[in-house]
Amino acid sequence: MNNILVTGGAGFIGSHTCLQLMNEGLNVCIIDSLINSSEKIINQIKLINEKEGIKKGKLFFRHGDLRNNDFINNVFLEFKRKKLPFDSVIHFAGLKAVEESIFNPLGYWEVNIISTINLLITMDKFDCNKLVFSSSATIYDPSKKIKYDEESPKRPINPYGNTKLTIEIFLQDLFLSSQNKWKIINLRYFNPVGAHPSGLIGENPKCTPTNLFPILLKVANGKKKELSIYGNDWPTKDGTCIRDYIHVMDLADAHIAALEFLNKASPQAKAINIGTGKGTSVLEIIKRFNKINSVNLPFKFVNRRKGDSAIVIADNKLALELLNWVPKRNIDDICLDSFKWSKYSL
Ligand code: NAD
Ligand code: UD1
Repeated sequence: MNNILVTGGAGFIGSHTCLQLMNEGLNVCIIDSLINSSEKIINQIKLINEKEGIKKGKLFFRHGDLRNNDFINNVFLEFKRKKLPFDSVIHFAGLKAVEESIFNPLGYWEVNIISTINLLITMDKFDCNKLVFSSSATIYDPSKKIKYDEESPKRPINPYGNTKLTIEIFLQDLFLSSQNKWKIINLRYFNPVGAHPSGLIGENPKCTPTNLFPILLKVANGKKKELSIYGNDWPTKDGTCIRDYIHVMDLADAHIAALEFLNKASPQAKAINIGTGKGTSVLEIIKRFNKINSVNLPFKFVNRRKGDSAIVIADNKLALELLNWVPKRNIDDICLDSFKWSKYSL
């Protein structure tokens, strides 16, 4: 049985991915500093696993920070001695709030870059050479396109995006340095949203949220008066921005598919978009959310937000071809599952 190290596995995307990994019969070790999550999530993962009778793979949790090289080294050593050496790593850990990164570039560069370098040094030392890295559509030039394929021009417009592009470049250098060794996939996520259908895990950021769904869910639960929609004068069918929202369970499945691909692939470093290939406007989201959950979200239009683009959609052909993966959930599933989670968590 394979053993997978999941950094940042207590976070939003990581927790859902861990469940799917265990479902596949893989043993999972989470490393997380809990800077943007809590240990409760580990228990929730175990709870869902037991409730659904999955129980195939084992779950381990090691609390610590990837900036600490000795800590990572000790975890790799411990699992090697247990005869459960890590076969692959999924690297979610990092800071991800765009606005925060503009005010605190030092913190973002320190956490995202140093953590990744430490991780790769230790992987190299322990001959663990398969990596799936959480990259982002935020690395693309936002002014260039509507639909982005992997070759679209790159031009991040904030420190967070700069760290993601830098890590992709670093991983490419690493692969080129020893071309028969590393198997690396950078998954470029578009807009991950939704929650586990049980409603027991979902997105729960510790800092004040700025993304659409965490705010919308606050409004739906009466914790915020109304949703401010950033502009109704965009060149789209209803004047509001269009994004490619992908259910977090589909995203989790994409990680399993990426690991399966790497298991069979020759050494390489490749970037793959993960999105649905379909766009939904903010007003359409509100409409579907109201309908499926029988609510009536109050909203108002305000000025456009700096840094927004009218339309951002993934060209996901490469993912469909190479990973043999297709997104299975739609916007209604996203609205239903995220509302269920929010009623439990907010
Ligand atoms: P998250 O904040 O919920 O999860 C990240 C986890 O990493 C958290 O549990 C946090 O405590 C942990 N962490 C942070 N720094 C750490 C460190 N130095 N050592 C150990 N653990 C650390 O974020 P998420 O939404 O699950 O995103 C996961 C990854 O995907 C991130 O790298 C993010 O940049 C990337 N991503 C996310 C989105 C999105 O919209 N959620 C979009 C594109 C890319
Ligand atoms: C944002 C980031 C992007 C990052 C992604 C995932 C910006 C400009 N972009 O993308 O770099 O990769 O999150 O973390 O911050 N909206 C409202 N009202 C709100 C919140 C959002 O109308 O209160 C709209 C936005 O204008 C946008 C859509 O909802 O059109 C989605 O917003 P959001 O969830 O923040 O994602 P992105 O802007 O796509």
